[in-house]
Amino acid sequence: ERYNYGMIGLGVMGRNLLYNIADNGFSVAGFDLDEEKIKELESGATSNMTVKGTGSLEEFVSQLEIPRKIILMVPAGKPVDAVLDNITPLLSKGDIVIDAGNSYFKDTDRRIADLASKNLHFMGMGVSGGEKGARKGPSIMPGGDLEAFKLIKPMLESIAAKVDNEACTAYMGKDSAGNYVKMVHNGIEYAIMQLISEAYDLLKRGANLSNDQLYKVFKEWNDGEMNSFLIEITRDIFQQKDPLKDGYLVDHILDKAGAKGTGKWTSEQAMEIGVSIPTIDIAVTSRILSAYKEERVQASQLYSEKEMINPENIDLFIKEVGDALYLATLISYAQGLALLVKASEEYNFEIPVRDVVKIWRGGCIIRSVLLEKFYSAYTNNPNLPNILLDKDISIIVKEKIKSLRNVAGFAASNGISSLGIQTALGYFDAYTTESLPVNLIQAQRDYFGAHTYQRIDREGVFHTSWQSVNN
Ligand code: 6PG
Repeated sequence: ERYNYGMIGLGVMGRNLLYNIADNGFSVAGFDLDEEKIKELESGATSNMTVKGTGSLEEFVSQLEIPRKIILMVPAGKPVDAVLDNITPLLSKGDIVIDAGNSYFKDTDRRIADLASKNLHFMGMGVSGGEKGARKGPSIMPGGDLEAFKLIKPMLESIAAKVDNEACTAYMGKDSAGNYVKMVHNGIEYAIMQLISEAYDLLKRGANLSNDQLYKVFKEWNDGEMNSFLIEITRDIFQQKDPLKDGYLVDHILDKAGAKGTGKWTSEQAMEIGVSIPTIDIAVTSRILSAYKEERVQASQLYSEKEMINPENIDLFIKEVGDALYLATLISYAQGLALLVKASEEYNFEIPVRDVVKIWRGGCIIRSVLLEKFYSAYTNNPNLPNILLDKDISIIVKEKIKSLRNVAGFAASNGISSLGIQTALGYFDAYTTESLPVNLIQAQRDYFGAHTYQRIDREGVFHTSWQSVNN
């Protein structure tokens, strides 16, 4: 008897996704070069599952039903190409290979073309939700060939997270749209994590809150309108005791952030196709800056004159930090979603942005009750270029903007770095300003480089021979 699905890569993510598929009644064969991982797979399987592991690619391929449906869960980059080089000669016309890792979308486009020339389907599919999500229900972002997608759709719908009985998976568009959407998901993830870390810093250094107090604040936030995965895990982090010594673990973690690249790709992409996503950019660069630990220590001694003036009304301050975090988070989604809208045009992806926010409501790292509001906004207007233009969203923004300004002001005057909060506010102010001062930039460009400018009162392109006052 042949297996319904094949999984290549039996690391933590691959194994858990495989179990999830098997739990839903599909038989799955797993392949890995590592003997240990094969044993782990088989010993961890429960009796309801039809699961088998192998270290032989030939055996693996020969055991799959036709057309073969093979999911790759291997690290992005060279490992994916290596697997494809080994496996494609063993496949037959119409087989489908689905890359479920965080692959760069341009790599996916290249692989789609390469496999198409061999009459094989290749799909890029974003999967979010970490280890637990993979096992119990992730958010799944498939894109590519529509016919191939239809063959795997029932399986994806059964393994994905559910919100209101609806599966958190949908077709994300043509070509590498699935990877693109996942990349932008991660860019937004970076921005929200940055903003939460700033709120933490403001409450901790600005208002002297202890970890126990921080736990309570985040619990309250998570129980209310900020209910989301990232606020929820942050709440729990403040209660985690250090296994190695007294105190809370968070206080003993070195302040240098790692990054695997998806945030950086999001920023690079936005620059490439001309979309302004400054809160995501700043989140990427803040992680870079965090790595200059030794320099920061030196500089903090050189410029140690910072004086902290604590807020007078702590409860009001906590509320304002919460509102600022809420609004800055909303603005980060606005930037990421605007990037998806533009990318969809630019690359002809045909990304259904309404479905994107719909399937991000559950399973993924950036899931949040906020997504419900975006879903309504896109339901009312599927062509919304930016969610800040939605009437209902504007009501929320107006309620919170004062707090964002106050908190940004507090951070600035007390020397608490809040790059994400400041940038979200700056983006909002620029985006909502009818006349920006870039008329002056245009004048300067034309002055020194004859770059020309347009006028507000008539059509056409103009150049002036600007006069130096000293002449
Ligand atoms: C997810 C996450 C995940 C990502 C990690 C690590 O949606 O489950 O986005 O895919 O790999 O968050 O990202 P960094 O190492 O770049 O922080």
